[in-house]
Order: sequence, then C-alpha cells, then structure tokens
Amino acid sequence: MFTAKPFITRAAVLLGCATIVFLAAGTEAPEGVPLPDPLADEDFLFDGAPSPALVDLGRDLFFDPILSGNRNISCGTCHDPSLGTSDGLPLGIGEGGAGAGAERRTSDAVTGRVPRNSPALWNIGAREYRVMFHDGRLEDLGNDALNLRVPSVAPLPDGLDSVLAAQAFFPVTSAIEMAGQRGENEVADAMLTQGFNAAWAEIAQRVAATDEYAAAFIAAYADVESADDIQYAQIAQALAAFQTVAFRTDDSAFDQVLASGDTSHLSAKAADGLELFYGKAGCASCHSGPLLTDHAFHAIAVPQIGPGKGHGRDAGYWEMSGMMAFLEDEGRYRVTGDPDDLFAFRTPSLRNVAVTGPWGHSGAFDALEAMVRHHLNAVQSLEDFDPGQIELPQLDRIIDQTGGQSASGYTELDSTRRAVFLQRDGFVQASPRLRGRIAAANDLQPLNLSDAEVSNLLAFLESLTDPKVATLSSIVPTSVPSGLQPQPQPAGSLSQTKTSEPVLNLP
Ligand code: HEC
Ligand code: HEC
Repeated sequence: MFTAKPFITRAAVLLGCATIVFLAAGTEAPEGVPLPDPLADEDFLFDGAPSPALVDLGRDLFFDPILSGNRNISCGTCHDPSLGTSDGLPLGIGEGGAGAGAERRTSDAVTGRVPRNSPALWNIGAREYRVMFHDGRLEDLGNDALNLRVPSVAPLPDGLDSVLAAQAFFPVTSAIEMAGQRGENEVADAMLTQGFNAAWAEIAQRVAATDEYAAAFIAAYADVESADDIQYAQIAQALAAFQTVAFRTDDSAFDQVLASGDTSHLSAKAADGLELFYGKAGCASCHSGPLLTDHAFHAIAVPQIGPGKGHGRDAGYWEMSGMMAFLEDEGRYRVTGDPDDLFAFRTPSLRNVAVTGPWGHSGAFDALEAMVRHHLNAVQSLEDFDPGQIELPQLDRIIDQTGGQSASGYTELDSTRRAVFLQRDGFVQASPRLRGRIAAANDLQPLNLSDAEVSNLLAFLESLTDPKVATLSSIVPTSVPSGLQPQPQPAGSLSQTKTSEPVLNLP
C-alpha cells in the first residue's frame, strides 16, 4: 500500500497491546483492528495537572501581545481557540497583520507571509511529542533527560523540562512572526545586533516591569522572589503549562471507543471508516497511536504554495523578477541532510482535524475531503493542483529589505516589484522542474477507494472531534496584565473583527 519503512514496525509495537482488550470487549469491533490505548493524565506533561497559578499565568501570556516586538500579535492570534487552535488561513500573516481568519490582512508593513501553515496545538502537552514543527527542527534526542537539538545558534538555558517549553523560545525571535523588523522595537534590534539571548532578556524585562505579571510570577514560582528574578525560561514554562491543560482533548467519540473497545459510540459510517483507517486504507501506519501520528517524517507530495523556506538552488524566480529568493521548502531534509528526507514533513495528529483547516504544511488544501483524496494518488493530485484556488490573505502593505544590513532599511514595494513578488506564491507549483522534485520524493503508493469509502473515512475523522472545541473560545481572557487588547479578541467581544462565518463545523 505504501513503501515499507521502519516506522511500520514501530507503529505495530505501539498499537499491539490494545488488540486483545478491544476484541474481547467489542460487540461491533472489526476483527483484528489494533487500537491504541486511551490517553491518561500521566501521558501529559505535569501529569496533566500543573498548578493553577502557572496555568493562569500561561493563559495571560499566551493571549497578551506583550510578547511581540511591536505589541501587535500574541501566540493566540495564530493559534486561535475559535479557529481550531490554528488561524483558519493557508499561510498566515504574522506581526503587522490585523483581523482574524479570512479577514486577516496587513495593516502595517510586513516582509511577507509566514511560510508554513500554523499547526493546531491539540494535545501538544502529551509527553509523546518529542519533535516540534512541520520539519521537527526542534527535537528532544534524550533518553531519560531532556537533550534538545535546537534551531537557534544560541543554546537554550538549562533547567527547561520539556520540548514544549523550549518551543516557546522561537516564535518571539522570528521577525515575521512576532519580533518585527530592524529599527521598529527593542526586541527586534536586540535580536539583530546581539542575538537570541538578548532578545529573550528584553521580553522578560518587559513582562517583569508589569506589576501584575511580577506578582503572578512570584505566586507561580518558588524561585521567583522579585521581578528581577523573572526570565524568559519561566515565561516559556508557563506557556507550556497552559497549552498542556487548555489544548488537551481526549473526550471525542473515538476516545469512548478506545476506553470501551466497542465501536457502538460511532455512527455506522464512522465505524466503517475506522475499519478502513486501521485496515485496507493503511492510514494508521503513519497516523498511529492515541494522537494518530507516528511523529515521524514522510514525503507525501503535498503541493507547496507561498514563499517557501529559502531552500533549494533554483534561480528561476530570481532571473524572472530580479528579486533574490529561493522558494522551495525541502522539509525534514534541511534538518538531517539525508536525501531520503527530501520534502518529508512530520505526520500531523488528526485529533479534531475536522476543525483545523486549511490542511497540509503549506495549507494547500482548504477542504478535508481534498486532503484525504490527495493521499489516494498523491502525485496526480500534485499535478492537478491549481494554486489559484487557494485564497491567501491580502498583503496590502509589503516592504522589501534594500541595502542589506546598511541604514537604508525597508521600503514599500512599487507596483512592478509588487506584481512579481506576488507571483512567488504559485511559483514552485507552476515550475515543472520544482514540482517534479516534490513528486520524485513521494512515498505514498496509489490507493483505490470508492467514493463511499472516502465518505466513511471522513465520517471517522469527524468522530475525532471533541465537543470541547466548540466552546474553547471562552478561554480567551477579557483583559491581560499588560493592559493591551488580548488577541484574539475574547468571545462575545463587541469589537469582534472575526469572520461571521461559523468556523467550527461540528456534526
Ligand atoms: C505568526 C503566527 C504564529 C504566532 C504568533 C505563533 N505561532 Fe506557533 N506556530 C506557527 C507556525 C506557522 C508554526 C509551524 C512552523 C514550522 O513548522 O516551521 C508554529 C508552531 C508552533 C508549535 C509546534 C506545534 C507542533 O505540532 O509542532 C507550538 C507548540 C507553537 N507554535 C506554540 C506557539 C506559542 C507558545 C506562541 C507564542 C509564544 C506561538 N506559537 C506564536 C505560527 C505562529
Ligand atoms: C506514509 C504515511 C501516511 C499515510 C499512510 C497516511 N498519511 Fe495522512 N499525512 C501524512 C503526512 C506526512 C501528512 C502531512 C503532509 C504535509 O503536510 O506535507 C499527512 C496529512 C494528513 C491530513 C492533514 C492533517 C493536517 O492537519 O493538515 C489528513 C486529514 C490525513 N493525513 C489523513 C490521512 C488518511 C485518512 C489516511 C489514510 C487514507 C492517511 N492520512 C494516510 C502521512 C500519511
């Protein structure tokens, strides 16, 4: 069904033990389906129960734009509880953007799009998460103790106790996501002139200078006695505690199946879909375990849209536009240098997947069915893909860096440069050579499923939605200690800028 790789053995080991329980208890259990064990508290960081003081502090920090250089974006802008903990966009606009979901656009000048789809954060506090990001560039290589491989030049401070806390160090130093451009604020300037540690220290100082935060850190940490003791590592740890609790979802119909071992909790279609998922369709060889991911990397030829990650050596765009850029996203290969990893991306968890669109590392698919069908014949789907069908958010104000690191800084793009700049978004897909590289790396073998079978698989994916996601927007605080407007705006807020379309399409 797909190229055999070592992960199959691993998945089999992970899944093996639940088989007997399932078959013994299940009245409607399909023969031989090896389901994973249900999730339990101890499967999560802090054994699922960090102190309430730490969680509350993390919640304020997660939604407070104070962590961004220009105080205009929070973690919650791109991981919005009302948009499936993603942002509802194929590729988002980071700092300098305004509005949420389909209405997000650039209100201030930005250098471009965020190059990858903002991932949902469901169950991100599960201990089995050892690699972060679509390419796993942040990774815990340790056996007993945490041993981080990090994408920054600077090592992270000692004393971090999870890869999730380590992750929180990175969005704030990214110019395009949260830090902003040179000359705009002290965080961006510290980052450019002195590096990561200086930028983290700037942010910690900002937070510590807010009395309400200082008091909250003193309450949450035994080793914080005054505002002077506050460091970015404690900000990161609080963010990890909050994410662990807030985004844990293990109360879906699927969880009831895992707990009871019988599929009567599912509709007939979803039960058939489960059987396909764990059987003939082969989905569970990669989407394995209780989170429906093997946390491993596979090339499945998802089309690339947007500016890419600056990978590859193709000068086609440069020659055409006069604007220097490499536009590919080679995925895991850029972490390992192993040609087998070209265009491989981490298998995403499918928890609540029905509400986390658009899908794929580049957000290329805006319908779940299209994403699933892509798996049936990945190369054909790549060939047939039309990037024009994807609505990327408007870039009303784009700037370009001119004059290198000299004083001239950034200037707005004139109309000619703007037009070729926007051609970047579909450039890789339009190039037979670049598209061909993605196709050549594909690991998925074609799979024949009838329309009814695809529909059953989709019904099964819907059964992975926890009812909790429908009300999660209520966790956005109405105010945050900095006095800035929380982002996204809290549910029911009058000045709501979100799209009026219902975003959660629950069964
Ligand atoms: C501008 C949008 C944006 C902002 C702001 C943002 N993120 Fe993200 N986040 C992303 C994108 C995009 C990725 C994936 C990047 C990649 O894979 O290269 C990501 C990845 C992550 C991941 C890894 C998820 C996984 O499955 O590997 C976590 C955790 C996370 N973000 C938490 C945070 C926290 C905490 C903050 C605030 C400190 C934050 N994000 C701010 C867009 C954003
Ligand atoms: C060879 C491993 C593999 C198999 C088998 C597989 N997938 Fe995937 N799947 C992936 C990877 C890797 C991605 C992410 C690809 C990317 O973003 O470039 C993915 C993405 C997805 C997504 C989008 C998730 C998101 O959040 O964007 C869905 C839905 C999905 N798969 C469902 C399925 C179903 C249903 C099957 C069975 C028909 C299946 N997959 C079989 C590896 C696999």
